[in-house]
Amino acid sequence: MVLAIVILAAGKGTRLRSSRPKVLHSIGGKPLLLHVIDAALQVVPSSDIFVITGHQSETVQAAVAHTGVHFIEQAEQRGTGHAIQLAIPALRDYEHVLVLSGDVPLLRTETVSALRDFHLRQRAAMTILSAEVEKPFGYGRIVRTTANGPEVSRIVEQRDLAPEDQPIREINSGIYAFALDPLRAHIDRLEANNAQGELYLTDVAALMGKAGERVLALEAPSASEILGANTIAEIMELDAHLRQATTARHMAAGVTIFQPHSVLIDAGVEIGPDTVIEPFVQLLGTTRIGSHSRIRSYSVLEDMIVGDHVQIRQGSILESSEVRDGALIGPYAHLRPESLVEEGVHIGNFVELKKTHMRRGAKANHLSYLGDAEIGEASNVGAGTIICNYDGVDKHKTIIGANAFIGSDSVLVAPLTIGDGAYVAAASCITEDVPAEALALGRARQTNKPGWARTRKTRVPLRDNLA
Ligand code: UD1
Ligand code: CA
Repeated sequence: MVLAIVILAAGKGTRLRSSRPKVLHSIGGKPLLLHVIDAALQVVPSSDIFVITGHQSETVQAAVAHTGVHFIEQAEQRGTGHAIQLAIPALRDYEHVLVLSGDVPLLRTETVSALRDFHLRQRAAMTILSAEVEKPFGYGRIVRTTANGPEVSRIVEQRDLAPEDQPIREINSGIYAFALDPLRAHIDRLEANNAQGELYLTDVAALMGKAGERVLALEAPSASEILGANTIAEIMELDAHLRQATTARHMAAGVTIFQPHSVLIDAGVEIGPDTVIEPFVQLLGTTRIGSHSRIRSYSVLEDMIVGDHVQIRQGSILESSEVRDGALIGPYAHLRPESLVEEGVHIGNFVELKKTHMRRGAKANHLSYLGDAEIGEASNVGAGTIICNYDGVDKHKTIIGANAFIGSDSVLVAPLTIGDGAYVAAASCITEDVPAEALALGRARQTNKPGWARTRKTRVPLRDNLA
């Protein structure tokens, strides 16, 4: 049996009132369409997946091209039936097709496989994945031939509902399996005589039924996985569903998450057991955290790699960097992309790192900017140290050896090398390399003028500051 999957993703998403195409809106930090493609990839290889794009086609295609799926253009979006008409030529060598919807992202692979198996076993021409829901508003409704049988006589869209169809709570998920021969025979017979003036794929059910083909509905195991999203509010509902499932999965795997409804954990995040996530934390993108670590409130980690026994204190912002075992970060630290913080490093409050590598046990505890730098093992960077890495045109590197000591309020003007065990005196402006074990003084020498204040008072009459 040769099976293809078609994913409908050409629609504009008018009800979203957004300039971004609907299928590129995200839930759990990942575009709707990618969720659907990932589910499809568990069933067939990418060479058997065809995504129909139309509205902002180029943007949509660019966002998912890395998956290797095929694309079919639907320049004018004349309805879901029209979209499938355009896909028919590409499906020439297939016997069956599963149709998924780019805006129904919670669908599980198991359910897609169950639909395929049921459809094949029943030798149906069309099998509709359906569900009984509390609030059917907005969905097409399934009109069964008999109360208990699997046969369907037609699908009625919300806008075309007759009064007698109003009580139906079984909805069409927009997900179907078709045998291609009967689909080819009926798809061109669709007419746009409906409220929206579109060619509805759903009308194929009635056409096939009248021709004596077998049209069935299979109820999905859970209604929540076939929920669609037509408005921002509905997308956010799906997002909440997915995030709740994500936090539940982490907690089941031994992660402690306080006030789980307050945290934002993207679907792709991994967390080791015995790690603690405090309220109002965001873990985004491909972030991976080891075990026995603690992420304190108001910290935001995006595309981070974090080891074991790491403490990220309150309000730290960490992006695209790596923090190794036992490091201590924050409060209010900022790791910008491509930084690497090795074992046991301390990064304190109001310290910003950019493309900076801190080797084992190095410390920068207060108020610093460290950019394009390498800082050697166990070196100490004093409060208020600033690396001037940028001359307005180019970025330059600073290399600090092991066991070096950079006094507070120093300015290190790159490019610069400071040797192992060297000292930089506090408040120095360092513009030349410092050899190993040397002391660099780069500041004006202090002079004291004894009695200066007393003589000044005799020259300038004292102003009464309290007046
Ligand atoms: C559709 C179904 C409805 C079902 C619901 C489930 C039809 C006529 N109705 O309604 O029975 O309950 O899905 O979520 O099919 N699309 C195209 N090209 C087009 C039009 C749409 O590719 O010309 C794509 C959209 O991008 C979307 C999907 O098809 O991914 C569904 O279209 P949408 O307009 O959202 O249909 P619904 O009104 O939700
Ligand atoms: Ca929809």
